Amino acid sequence: MRPLEGVTPPEVADLISDVIKDKVVCDVGCGEGTFMESLAKHAKHVIGIEEEEAWAYAAAAKGFEVLHSSSWFQPLPKADVYFLWSKDAMGVYLKAKYEGTKGTFVFGHTVRPSLTNLINSLDGEKREIPDSIWWVFITEL
Ligand SMILES: C[S@@+](CC[C@H](N)C(=O)[O-])C[C@H]1O[C@@H](n2cnc3c(N)ncnc32)[C@H](O)[C@@H]1O
Repeated sequence: MRPLEGVTPPEVADLISDVIKDKVVCDVGCGEGTFMESLAKHAKHVIGIEEEEAWAYAAAAKGFEVLHSSSWFQPLPKADVYFLWSKDAMGVYLKAKYEGTKGTFVFGHTVRPSLTNLINSLDGEKREIPDSIWWVFITEL
C-alpha cells in the first residue's frame, strides 16, 4: 500500500463540530479512515467512499461503512454532510450539483488553487484554524 498523503488534521473536525453534530457525514475519498475517527467524535454516523481498494479496506477494518468506488462512477452515498479534502473536490461538488444531490458540502484547503476563486464565489462560510494553513469552506446544495 503506498503511503497516504494529505490526511486532514484532527483539529479540522473540531472546527466544523457544529456543522457535523448529530449528522450523517460522508468522507468523500476517506483514505484509510483516519479522519473518519475524528469526524465520529461529533457526528451521528460517518460513512466513506474511497476509490483505492487498499485504503477502502483499511477504513472498513476500523469499523466504518465504506463504499469502495469512485465518486466519478456513481452518485455520492446519501448523507447530510459531505467532507471533501482532495484536489478534485470542486469536480465532485459540481457533479453532485448536476445530479441533484442535497446536503452540506465542506471543502478543505486542498482544493486546486486555480479553483479557489470559484469556491469563494459560492454562498457559504470560510473558517480558518488560527496560525495554520488549514481552512475549510462550507456551502449548501
Ligand atoms: C488527501 S486524501 C484525504 C483522506 C481523508 N479524507 C482525510 O481527510 O484524511 C484523498 C483521498 O481521496 C481519494 N479520492 C480522490 N478522489 C476520489 C473520488 N473521486 N472518489 C473516491 N475517492 C477519491 C484518494 O484515493 C485519497 O484516498
